[in-house]
Amino acid sequence: MTVRMEQVTVTYGRGAAGSALDGLSLAFRPGDFVGVLGRSGAGKSTLIRCINGLVRPSSGVVEVDGLDMTRIDERGLREARSRIGMVFQQFGLVPRTTALTNVMLGTVGQRPAWRNAVGYFGRDERQRALAALEAVGLGDYASRRVEQLSGGQQQRVAIARAMMQRPTVLLGDEPVSSLDPVTSRGIMELFERVHREDARRITIVNLHDPELALAFCSRIVGLKAGCVVFDGPPGDVTPDVRRTIYGE
Ligand SMILES: Nc1ncnc2c1ncn2[C@@H]1O[C@H](COP(=O)(O)OP(=O)(O)O)[C@@H](O)[C@H]1O
Ligand SMILES: [Mg+2]
Repeated sequence: MTVRMEQVTVTYGRGAAGSALDGLSLAFRPGDFVGVLGRSGAGKSTLIRCINGLVRPSSGVVEVDGLDMTRIDERGLREARSRIGMVFQQFGLVPRTTALTNVMLGTVGQRPAWRNAVGYFGRDERQRALAALEAVGLGDYASRRVEQLSGGQQQRVAIARAMMQRPTVLLGDEPVSSLDPVTSRGIMELFERVHREDARRITIVNLHDPELALAFCSRIVGLKAGCVVFDGPPGDVTPDVRRTIYGE
């Protein structure tokens, strides 16, 4: 599994002031646990959305496991996405539905269409979903409606849902930005655990808080105005590097 971005430029609409990504090139290797840092507007979300095909670059190549995400058709895209787990800041769950059903929905991209149409989940899916909920410490909450759970618990459900996909790529777009510091660390620990389950997995997480990235990630990417201004291990993030990433 590899993720390769080559000279990727994203310009939103005609009136856009500049490019959200500006000729960005990055290659991610199996086992990379990447923390993406940058000021608001630096292009972090756009980078993540290019990898899962939610945003099509204006130019350049985004390759996920040999598939060019910028050129594949809708069907290929659906298939590629079914192995790309995604965790959002606002959890992205179905609030009035149980934790268990939300987790089972993680397999939707991998099921025949008729089963999605009738909303049918098999025994095997049910069992896997329960196991995923147990793995994130929510075994007792399976039948609880998601809207009755705390933010941290909801994010655990979202991670369990991503685990159902057995993702080769796990993406997080500021997954801890709406959580308190202690809960945030718990969620990052969970990301780390899920990441390690599969040595080939690539995990890429946008983080608002550089300390969390340095504590948990094996590789830091610093973005500024759509360009990579740093790429290296956490130990190389000096005060100078921080100024480069966050400075005016
Ligand atoms: N859907 C959109 N339409 C127009 N401009 C957008 C859109 N999404 C993001 N942008 C712009 O692209 C740039 C990068 O945004 P984004 O990738 O969201 O950065 P970050 O996640 O680092 O805050 C910003 O200037 C933002 O205003
Ligand atoms: Mg963002």
